[in-house]
Amino acid sequence: MKVADFDLWMRDELAAVESALERWVPATAPAGLGEAMRYGVLDGGKRLRPLLVLAACDAALGCRAAALRAAVAVELIHAYSLIHDDMPCMDDDVLRRGKPTVHVRFGEAQAMLAGDAMQALAFEVLTPGPGEADAVPPLLQARLCGLLARAAGSEGMAGGQAIDLASIGLSLTESQLRDMHRRKTGALLQASVLMGAACGELPARAWDALAGYGASLGLAFQVVDDILDVTQASETLGKTAGKDMHDNKPTYVSVLGLDGARAQAEDLRSRAHEALARSGLTQHAYLSLLADLVVDRTS
Ligand code: IPE
Ligand code: IPE
Ligand code: MG
Ligand code: MG
Ligand code: MG
Repeated sequence: MKVADFDLWMRDELAAVESALERWVPATAPAGLGEAMRYGVLDGGKRLRPLLVLAACDAALGCRAAALRAAVAVELIHAYSLIHDDMPCMDDDVLRRGKPTVHVRFGEAQAMLAGDAMQALAFEVLTPGPGEADAVPPLLQARLCGLLARAAGSEGMAGGQAIDLASIGLSLTESQLRDMHRRKTGALLQASVLMGAACGELPARAWDALAGYGASLGLAFQVVDDILDVTQASETLGKTAGKDMHDNKPTYVSVLGLDGARAQAEDLRSRAHEALARSGLTQHAYLSLLADLVVDRTS
């Protein structure tokens, strides 16, 4: 596939995701809650998780309407996790997606509630009522909810965030660090791939290969996040650079050094590509290029 085709695909999908988020995140939620929710999720972010959902659906020749809902749902969970991650009781950050963080702009209680409401909204979006034009079969609704809930909960993102906070000032082994990163970041990225795949019907071999692809890409994503924290400026990242070292967090850079972390990211890129090669799927170019994007990104 030509890079220009990939760019075109991304442009169209990003526009579709943006307008779906715009449509589904309610401005009318009471007492300013809608404004805080929309501030936290609209107009910003790379939308990598939605792109993974849509690319996996494309590879699985799946149902587009269901995948668009899954793309919105996973971005809502991700954006909620960022709002809470930035709060003073967690990473205490003031800058996100190039703007003041939600608690800085709207206060802590509203930030907490915006996150809570976005988490619930994700599951509302996955379970359209019978009257809605883009109906999703009930079995698929349940499957998508299950994949997302497990990735977001105590075994996945929330559990990983708990480990992250409990690890401040500690020196983790590489395997403890890998476990933390797989949960706090990898799980939701892997779920994005699997939710897209679930919108089609895949043989076990392809499903397992996509699970492997998602695991490698998901871990690579946080390894690169750790690298960018020390190599990029806040203006490029849209969030405070140098935060991990400042907060004494164990990261791939603090444990393996910058070169070691970069080597890990490259190894994970290769593993992601190998997984696609053994999937038996013929249409995986978008997934392949998204793995490159994750490793080569600068923000
Ligand atoms: C940042 O995620 C938080 C991590 C899980 C490392 P992204 O880098 O995907 O953030 P946005 O969505 O582009 O703002
Ligand atoms: C956050 O990890 C992972 C989440 C689940 C939100 P980080 O704390 O490293 O994310 P950034 O660097 O603030 O985006
Ligand atoms: Mg954090
Ligand atoms: Mg943080
Ligand atoms: Mg980080």
